[in-house]
Amino acid sequence: MQTIQLQDYQVNVGPIETSIKEYLDGRSYTHVVVIVDENTAVHCLPKISGLIGEHMVVEIPSGEQNKTLTTCEAIWQAMVDCEMDRHGLVINLGGGVIGDMGGFAASCYMRGVDFVQIPTTLLSQVDASVGGKLAVDFNGLKNFIGLFQNPKAVLVDPSFLKTLIPAELRSGYAEMVKHALIQDADIWKRLTAMSAWQDNANLEEIYQSIKVKEKVVLHDPKEGGLRKILNYGHTVGHAIETLSFETERPYLHGEAIAMGMVAEAYLSQLHTGLAVDQLQEIVDYFLAVYPGLSTEVLKRYDAVIDILKRDKKNKGGKYMFSLLKSIGDCTYDIEVDDADLRASLDYVFEVWS
Ligand SMILES: NC(=O)c1ccc[n+]([C@@H]2O[C@H](COP(=O)([O-])OP(=O)(O)OC[C@H]3O[C@@H](n4cnc5c(N)ncnc54)[C@H](O)[C@@H]3O)[C@@H](O)[C@H]2O)c1
Ligand SMILES: [Zn+2]
Repeated sequence: MQTIQLQDYQVNVGPIETSIKEYLDGRSYTHVVVIVDENTAVHCLPKISGLIGEHMVVEIPSGEQNKTLTTCEAIWQAMVDCEMDRHGLVINLGGGVIGDMGGFAASCYMRGVDFVQIPTTLLSQVDASVGGKLAVDFNGLKNFIGLFQNPKAVLVDPSFLKTLIPAELRSGYAEMVKHALIQDADIWKRLTAMSAWQDNANLEEIYQSIKVKEKVVLHDPKEGGLRKILNYGHTVGHAIETLSFETERPYLHGEAIAMGMVAEAYLSQLHTGLAVDQLQEIVDYFLAVYPGLSTEVLKRYDAVIDILKRDKKNKGGKYMFSLLKSIGDCTYDIEVDDADLRASLDYVFEVWS
């Protein structure tokens, strides 16, 4: 078992059978509620249901479209129905949707009950479950209603990933690559040296990737400064992800972010001194891991710019980016103008054409 201490809670990386027993040992809860979706109910719940004593399962439909206050109401109603009091525990067993929403629901129920995150996607293991951000979407606005609240523990078991569909695994992998690019050239070397990227979704690399996020979050718990580097690839990435929802085959989050990281590597070469050979290394790797992505939305410059303008970080035709000085070293609050932004979209278009 690998353990990371984060503020007032621990992230344990290792077999869930051990970590969950260790967590519950010596604690007594009046009620235990496990939140799952239809996939984690089948693939993940059987691994823990025999280890947590008497409990109630709340199953919600999977998907971002269900990360809403309406679903929270159903969760709260189920908690009321089983007469859960303040001394209960909520276990969020699922990907980032369950983790964000279940954590939010637990934090609001009776002004807050304990919750534990058991992330079951690669994205939620290395990213969403660490850092204390909880939220639901509101009237189409992503993560608009939420709060910062730490779980009591995060229990990460890479063996859950065995049942994840390959496209989801690959999508989450983009965040692992991002952690390497922004903080750790050694991780980058190890990840890129492996001929099959899938082999990197192992216990040791997941642990190292969480450690990167931990380091950044500990430095800046409420996103005042350094934490902005976690947005690397996400400025362009989010915009093209949003536009792709209007197409026949929307990008998965990590696919859009992979393209966003290439766009922002290009901008890094222009603005923060990323060396040309490192830019090429980054392009080659993303193209190898994410071949054949659609370029359909990349020429919609005005639509991309419109989306960036709505972001409160940006003002008057200038956009604020987190950019690389070199592989493993990222800086933030770098201004980029319309012309360079367009050029970066053209660059990504050429790479994937
Ligand atoms: N809080 C944060 O800091 C933070 C950071 C990044 C992302 N997020 C949020 O995370 C969410 C995305 O998370 P995600 O990518 O995990 O998506 P997800 O929770 O929708 O899971 C993806 C799919 O995989 C299925 N699944 C989950 N675990 C499985 C398993 N072990 N086997 C088989 N199927 C499984 C789910 O049912 C779902 O269909 C977004 O809502 C995003 O806003 C939050
Ligand atoms: Zn992301």
